[in-house]
Amino acid sequence: MKKINKLFFIIPAVVILAAAGWFAYRFSQTSSTEGAVMSDKNILIAYYSYSGNTESIAKKIQAKTGGDLFEIKTVTPYPKDYNTVVEQAQKEKQADFYPELQEKVADIAKYDVVFLGTPVWWYTMAPPVKTFIKENSLDGKTVIPFCTHGGGGASATFSDMAKLAPNAKVLEGIEIYERGNASTDNELNKWIEKTLK
Ligand SMILES: Cc1cc2nc3c(=O)[nH]c(=O)nc-3n(C[C@H](O)[C@H](O)[C@H](O)COP(=O)(O)O)c2cc1C
Repeated sequence: MKKINKLFFIIPAVVILAAAGWFAYRFSQTSSTEGAVMSDKNILIAYYSYSGNTESIAKKIQAKTGGDLFEIKTVTPYPKDYNTVVEQAQKEKQADFYPELQEKVADIAKYDVVFLGTPVWWYTMAPPVKTFIKENSLDGKTVIPFCTHGGGGASATFSDMAKLAPNAKVLEGIEIYERGNASTDNELNKWIEKTLK
């Protein structure tokens, strides 16, 4: 009788421990992939960045989506002096200038989704991004724009991108002040999840 009483307590205890172990295992599996977005689409994150802000956002999008990163680079770099580049960029905008780029995306055809990032230059995208759109066909693709700015917001950046890529499906973009912060990181993650749904 004594033996039966012991088993009465031991068996449920073993079952509970096994269940707890299984839940702990499942939970650890889930949390290891937390933050990443699961997508069956081929994703490219293409960006131009003069002083690193847009690049830091592009890298966050890459980490979250697992897509390929492509930096848009001009053959002739922009001047390092801030006032000089501001002046040059204004002239380039007025002249609708397309700067020459170092390279095209190796196989743009394989991507379904292109996150396209730019700093706001004179209320629109930086000229290298215009060249990128012209040289890499975005026809039939989903384009998800993002930009960083110095306080003026996206201005005409996203609508100008949509005009240059009329055969792409351009989704709602995100604008981030300079390099962003913890709160914009949170906003960025939610925006990525929403746009990739
Ligand atoms: C040539 C030039 C023009 C700019 N024009 C604007 C503008 O129209 N509106 C704005 O809010 N910020 C403007 N900025 C600030 C940049 O958009 C901002 O600093 C951005 O985060 C820089 O990104 P990057 O570090 O990736 O180059 C301008 C900066 C430069 C260099």
